[in-house]
Amino acid sequence: MPTPPDAPSPPPDAPATPWWELGSRPVALKDLRPEPLRLSHVSKLLSLERACYSDPWTASGLERELETDHARAWGLFLDANLLAYVIAWLFSEEFHILKLTVSPYFRRLGLGEKLLRVAIGLASAEKARVVLLETHEGNLPARALYRKLGFREDGVRKNYYRNGEDAVLMSLKLREL
Ligand SMILES: CC(C)(COP(=O)(O)OP(=O)(O)OC[C@H]1O[C@@H](n2cnc3c(N)ncnc32)[C@H](O)[C@@H]1OP(=O)(O)O)[C@@H](O)C(=O)NCCC(=O)NCCS
Repeated sequence: MPTPPDAPSPPPDAPATPWWELGSRPVALKDLRPEPLRLSHVSKLLSLERACYSDPWTASGLERELETDHARAWGLFLDANLLAYVIAWLFSEEFHILKLTVSPYFRRLGLGEKLLRVAIGLASAEKARVVLLETHEGNLPARALYRKLGFREDGVRKNYYRNGEDAVLMSLKLREL
């Protein structure tokens, strides 16, 4: 994948749409296509998993997730490049986000927010009552992103992660019971 700049800085006459350069090609956030993920995307997912997590999901784990009836998985693509993905479960009116991941080269450009909005729209269209997730207490970027889109912090699950870190439980209510 071409190397994007560390800090995209729009020129003075840039349109309001966030944009950056991919190689020599100017790219706007609106150019990124949300698409449902399929088994054929597993190798791309695996690359991002390995780039982003110390305990990445395996290929077979990802395949299992994508094949599950209650799984909802979407990616943000630029041409054939997978730049971000979200994997969730829809269970009895609860839309539970398991993973939201943006390629390390494309962070702070609005992709996470765009994909989270896609996920919330999907949850709403599927008549979910609430979007739930948990995240590492120390994951301040993720907590800030979720709070920005209206999630509230409901509590803490002590020693939830393998490294002993606490999980913060977050939710976004979409409708009343
Ligand atoms: C968390 C993550 C998905 C954010 O994606 P992103 O594309 O970089 O985020 P965006 O550019 O869309 O940012 C949207 C908002 O999130 C918050 N945010 C994102 N990164 C942040 C950071 N490093 N520090 C503080 N706030 C941050 C801000 O509120 C930001 O809004 P702003 O630009 O108006 O300030 C990304 O950092 C990531 O993939 N992290 C590793 C995987 C992970 O931790 N996933 C979440 C697990 S539940």
